[in-house]
Amino acid sequence: MEVAPILEEWEELREDYKKLECANVEYLKKLKELNGAQQQCLKHIQHQRYRMQVMAKTLRKLKKNKESSEKIKEMEDNLLKREAELQTIEERLPKKGSVYLKLILGDIDVSFLSKDEKFKYKDDYEKFKLINHVIAVVANVAMLYTSCRAIEILYLGFLVWYYCTITIKEAILRANGSRIKGWWRLHHILSTISSGILLIWPENEPWRQFREQFIWYNLYSCFVTYLQFKYQRGALYRLKALGERDNMDITIEGFHSWMWRGLTFLLPFLFIGYLFQLIHAVVLYKLSYHPEATWQVLTTSILFFVFFLGNTVTTILVVPEKIKQKVMFSYKVMTRRVYNVLSDTVRSGGRTTTNGIQK
Ligand code: COA
Repeated sequence: MEVAPILEEWEELREDYKKLECANVEYLKKLKELNGAQQQCLKHIQHQRYRMQVMAKTLRKLKKNKESSEKIKEMEDNLLKREAELQTIEERLPKKGSVYLKLILGDIDVSFLSKDEKFKYKDDYEKFKLINHVIAVVANVAMLYTSCRAIEILYLGFLVWYYCTITIKEAILRANGSRIKGWWRLHHILSTISSGILLIWPENEPWRQFREQFIWYNLYSCFVTYLQFKYQRGALYRLKALGERDNMDITIEGFHSWMWRGLTFLLPFLFIGYLFQLIHAVVLYKLSYHPEATWQVLTTSILFFVFFLGNTVTTILVVPEKIKQKVMFSYKVMTRRVYNVLSDTVRSGGRTTTNGIQK
């Protein structure tokens, strides 16, 4: 064994390391440039929004005075289009996490800069919910056929963990431009609390009386979650296809008719679930007068009533909101297509594609 070849190899490696150092310097420079560009975009967006707000205010005043309505309509349309454009640009910019995320994860950037990463995260979130509901079905069937307290404790502990996890995932999705309504996020935070309360509810007579009804409700809500999964995943893949400029398989009209069909199928099942929640609230309220009842009974009754109210109102409001936002949705899809062309152009450095689009 001689040391000379190793020394020679070390020299070679030293040369390679110099290349790595250069690449790293280049990387840090680009990172700084990227940071600067992101801040520039954010500043421009803020500026656009500020001026648009002032213009919208003036338009409202003009409308009250019944002045040239044709031009006003055109301007309102322009503002709506621009808002859709701003939202599309914002989708690719870093965002600060909510206070909730900051408390849990600290002050870190949770944004995904590529659309594919975002899509994958949302898809994983939907799959995560489904897989956990399959586990819940197994646990509930086991609880239905046995009266083993250990399974109950394990299941309720699992629910606390599950709801806690999805609130974090939803906060990350929200930070990345998802339009999840505040109620659904609050619903999942309240579900974490209610699962915690159920976990420490002692095994007394009110629990034994409520238990079976609770298990059937869980099984039903697992079934509804499966239907929701089919709908949300279908929407996710169709929206992705809609944003792709070359995709001719789906149109905005096609997406809307699919969505309404999906919603009209899903809504009756959702409302049956909400009725279940109302029944729970009433049954638990009556049970709260039982001599053995502890504070958990009345608290759970109140929480189920809150779920019933919040879910019913939010779901009823989905329909008129979707009708109202139809124009905005079309603008967003169109701007997404345009931005996809632009990002392809940047990536290819201005070459022409095989389908003839000038890049
Ligand atoms: N939980 C998490 N995310 C939800 C959600 C929910 N319950 N409802 C909607 N979202 C998300 C959507 O995926 C969408 O995300 P995106 O912006 O990242 O694409 C965003 O919120 C906006 O959705 P929206 O357009 O308002 O509604 P939708 O068409 O996606 O879904 C419903 C409408 C009614 C089907 C849906 O809200 C739903 O399933 N609600 C019922 C939930 C429930 O009651 N669960 C308990 C069952 S017993």
